[in-house]
Amino acid sequence: MKSFYLETFGCQMNVVDSEQITALLQEIGYQPIDAPDLADLVLLNTCSVRDKAERKVYGHLGRFKPIKDKRPQLIIGVGGCVAQQEGQRMLDAVSYLDLVFGTHNIHRLPEMVQQVEQTRQRASETDFLDRETRLNLFPERSASESATRFVTIMQGCDNFCSYCIVPHVRGREISRLSAEILNEIEALVAAGVKEVTLLGQNVNSYGCKNDGELSFPQLLAAVDAIPGLERLRFATSHPKDITAELIDCFGRLESLCPQVHLPVQSGSDRILALMNRGYDAADYLDKVRRLKAVCPQIRLTTDIIVGFPGETEEDFQATLDLVAQVRYADAFTFLYSPRVETAAASMPDNASARQKQQRFDRLLTLQQRISGEIWQEDAGKILPVLVEGASKQGEGQLFGRSVWNRIVNFSGPPELIGQVVPVAINKVLRNSHLGEYQNNC
Ligand code: SAH
Ligand code: SF4
Ligand code: F3S
Repeated sequence: MKSFYLETFGCQMNVVDSEQITALLQEIGYQPIDAPDLADLVLLNTCSVRDKAERKVYGHLGRFKPIKDKRPQLIIGVGGCVAQQEGQRMLDAVSYLDLVFGTHNIHRLPEMVQQVEQTRQRASETDFLDRETRLNLFPERSASESATRFVTIMQGCDNFCSYCIVPHVRGREISRLSAEILNEIEALVAAGVKEVTLLGQNVNSYGCKNDGELSFPQLLAAVDAIPGLERLRFATSHPKDITAELIDCFGRLESLCPQVHLPVQSGSDRILALMNRGYDAADYLDKVRRLKAVCPQIRLTTDIIVGFPGETEEDFQATLDLVAQVRYADAFTFLYSPRVETAAASMPDNASARQKQQRFDRLLTLQQRISGEIWQEDAGKILPVLVEGASKQGEGQLFGRSVWNRIVNFSGPPELIGQVVPVAINKVLRNSHLGEYQNNC
């Protein structure tokens, strides 16, 4: 039996792609293992959203060279967003690399691996396949043991935010057929899945390009109607495409969790325009206000870029003001990283690295205070928790998530795994809650 070792970087898109890579490799007789030094095939599924993520790939590849020196028959491959961006250049730069496959070429991987096995010729495939056939990239999903699953509903992005590599490495937006999505979710629910997260770079524009297709709010309603599905989430939504119909879903769909990730990127109208985001701070705040009106318990999370080219102290202050006003439960904050082929990479940038770092630290301090206050509101409450599995905290410990996607660790019998159970929240830590299972509720 042959084996493969697969390491995944980046966002949930890559996580789902890796599940698919695993299924495809199993079909040609490869089994997953955790030890690269014992594997016949080593693969990295990569991310290029920031420079640091991209450099990591080369660092990681270096770890496999000594293994390949000892066992030259080992096949080493790179897929994902760095592979898409670099293609043949990666093969030229890394002498011990055997194959490179792009984000639209996952279905070709089994054949590429078999070709390398037989001919020992190196191979690279990174063509974009923005055609209907790409929708067949989603094979039947095996029955799941896990209570939560991600389901891709669309891929690619047409937005071209000026800092972002994603449209360049994932191609144009393409939506799966709603009938396929609903079939897949029905099968997952029948196999015991309780929670589904619909995934796409910009889920709000789901179906817009396909005549007669459901809109995103209609798709949410159809998924919500599947009997047995307890929780529904989605990521990521672009603020410019949040419609009144979508906001209403938070008031009327029972399974839709009161949580939304709504990347704002900046609070400055000038920077938002330079970023090509298609909204200003007032539009964004208006949508947040309407979401909170329809669903008062909703909690928001966001992404923010600090140090975008030309960002002044005044622009940054506008970001701090917006963060204080929205009161996000969590924010993912990033220092701007110039990316090849993007418009922002050639914009003038006057702020020093030190200034940017100081802004980053100020934002983090503010956000940590707000996050602490919001999560503290859960202390002493009994919350419904969907139990996902055994916790790393120790014997007899389980973990699950609240409707707000917060990890809750507590002790309880393994039979609770896969169920929504009441847990009293005793302690609020920085990234998780500690609780006690309430078996008398
Ligand atoms: N599709 C999602 C996000 C994709 S990338 C969306 O549109 O919301 C995830 C986050 O990485 C972005 O929201 C942004 O905050 C950050 N990011 C993207 N490009 C970046 C860059 N060049 N430098 C720093 N952060 C970046
Ligand atoms: Fe990148 Fe913007 Fe598309 Fe998100 S919407 S993936 S930030 S280009
Ligand atoms: Fe990274 Fe590609 Fe996702 S660049 S963030 S893995 S779409």
